[in-house]
Parts: sequence; C-alpha cells; structure tokens
Amino acid sequence: MDEWIEKINNTCDIETLENIRIELLGKKGILTNEFLKLKNIPKEEKKEFAKKLNIQKHLITTALDEQKTFLEKELLKQKLKNEKIDVTKFNNSLQCGALHPVASTMDTVITYFQNLNFSVEEGPLVEDDFHNFEALNLPKYHPARDMQDTFYNKDYTLLRTHTSPVQIRTMLKQKPPIRMIAPGTVFRRDFDLTHTPMFNQIEGLVVDSADKISFANLKHTLVEFLEYMFGDINIRFRPSFFPFTEPSAEVDISCVFCKSKGCRVCSHTGWLEVLGCGIVDENVFKSIGYDNVSGYAFGLGIERFAMLKHNIGDLRSLFESDLRLLGQFR
Ligand code: DAH
Repeated sequence: MDEWIEKINNTCDIETLENIRIELLGKKGILTNEFLKLKNIPKEEKKEFAKKLNIQKHLITTALDEQKTFLEKELLKQKLKNEKIDVTKFNNSLQCGALHPVASTMDTVITYFQNLNFSVEEGPLVEDDFHNFEALNLPKYHPARDMQDTFYNKDYTLLRTHTSPVQIRTMLKQKPPIRMIAPGTVFRRDFDLTHTPMFNQIEGLVVDSADKISFANLKHTLVEFLEYMFGDINIRFRPSFFPFTEPSAEVDISCVFCKSKGCRVCSHTGWLEVLGCGIVDENVFKSIGYDNVSGYAFGLGIERFAMLKHNIGDLRSLFESDLRLLGQFR
C-alpha cells in the first residue's frame, strides 16, 4: 500500500492521478476487488480484514484528495504566471483629451479675477424681466431693449440675454463692498457668421461707498487684465452707450491678427472691440435700494476672447466639435 501512496504523491498531473484512482477504487479496481473478497472470508477473520481494507481505503482516498488539491493549486499558479497582464505597458495609440478653448479661456479669466479677490457669482439661465432688463435701467418699451434680441417664454420669463442680471442678484444678496465676476451662458435670437444663439460672457462688478470708485479704477483694472491676456497690445477706450452704465465705454485692442496693419477680422481698422464697461448708472443702484455708493462694471464675450487668444478665424468652429481643431489645443 505504501508504494501506491508514494506513487500518488509523485504524480505530476491530474489525469494520471485520476487513472490511479480508477486502478484502485474503480469498478474493477484493486481495492474494490479486495472488498468483494469479504463475502468469502470466514466470519472470524472478516472483521479484521474489513478493518484493514477500510484503513487502506481511507489512506488512499486522503492521499488522492490531497494530491489533487496540490496539483490544482500548482496549475492555477502556473496559469497566473503565464497569463499575467503587464498593466504598466502604455498604449501610445490612446490620445489625451484637452479643455475646449472656450472652457480654458473661461478658466484663465476666472482665475485672473479670483487672484484679485473677486468672488465668482452665479445666476439662473431663465431670468425674469426685472433682473434682465428693468433693474438694469432698461424699462419696458425702452428702445435699448432692441440691442438684445430676446427669447421670451410664455410666462414672462426669458433666456437671459447677458450676465448683467447677476450684478442685480448679487447686490440684492449682499452689501457693499462688492467685488464680483459672473461667468455663464447667455442667449440671443441671433445667428450669422459672427453670432450664435448661445454664447458665454463674464460680467464684472465693483461697488463701494460713494466717490470711492472712479473711472480710473476701472481703466486700470481692464488695462492690466487685457495686457495679461494678450501681451503687447495697444488699448483704447471709446465712448459708448449702455443703459446700466454712465459714462460707458467700449474697449478696443490693436488687432492681434494683423498687428494693426488692417485685415478682414478687424475690418481694416486695425482695432478689435473686446468689451463693454462703465460707471454703474445711479438708476441701477436706485432700483435695488442702494444709496451713497459708487461702482464700475464690465462685460465681455468669452468666445471672442478665445478666438483672439488662439487665432481662430471663424466663430462657428468653436461649436462644431471637430477633433482636428480641438486636438490643436492639447
Ligand atoms: N451686458 C452687456 C452686453 O451683453 C455687456 C456689458 C457692457 C456689461 C457694459 C456691463 C457693462 O456690465 O458695464 O452687451
């Protein structure tokens, strides 16, 4: 019997082990045959013989089970070793994504003003007439409302036409001094080569006690900001009109495409308009119950900034999700 046990322990594969099991314990197996002999054995010897056989059977089955478990474990070990995946192998065909130029320009502007301690405020995309127009010194039937072709809803709400309503919401929510920007999406009924019905703006507002905020403060902040964004450029403030500021100005920078020589983008003027700004109109403060304060405000279009910063000639390409274009901003 010891020979068999040794044979079992030396078996190297499961199939051979199974053959040994059949040879010993199968229907015609050696041990099975021994058990059959039991019925011909005299009574007195039977008990002793049966006991011996059962012990042998127990030893054999235990050895078979143990060797089987051992071989199965070895097999698994071998398998794990051979089928190992090298997770450190990097597939170079995978391409890395990048922020969309509009998103990255938005981030740059937000971070710039956050570093100057401006808070970042938000407002709803679906606005009411009061916040979008009325409180900003744009009363009903005022012709200046025509400057912004509006998407109206049936319930007298509208898709906000600019981020300026966030000025009103912030002033109603907190007391001066206020130093805030409001980034976000705005909507206008406008669609041509240079306009899309949805675009993004950043609004800026600074409010402090009366006479504390002057046009010089506004001018300094914007000149520093535009030089940070575009580097070595010329900047000019041109008198303009916005209902919510008085005096108002539009700011132009020297054309970044042709270096002021004159090209299609700047309509051969050498200048590009980049934002609107001004000293907050007294009527705006009045409409929300502010007294004895002064402030400046400005508003800019992010898509326009992204185009100028990255030399993109066509506004529509910002909305086409063409990977050939986007891949260039990785
Ligand atoms: N809301 C204006 C627009 O959408 C932009 C603007 C101009 C915002 C002047 C201002 C401002 O705060 O002072 O065209």
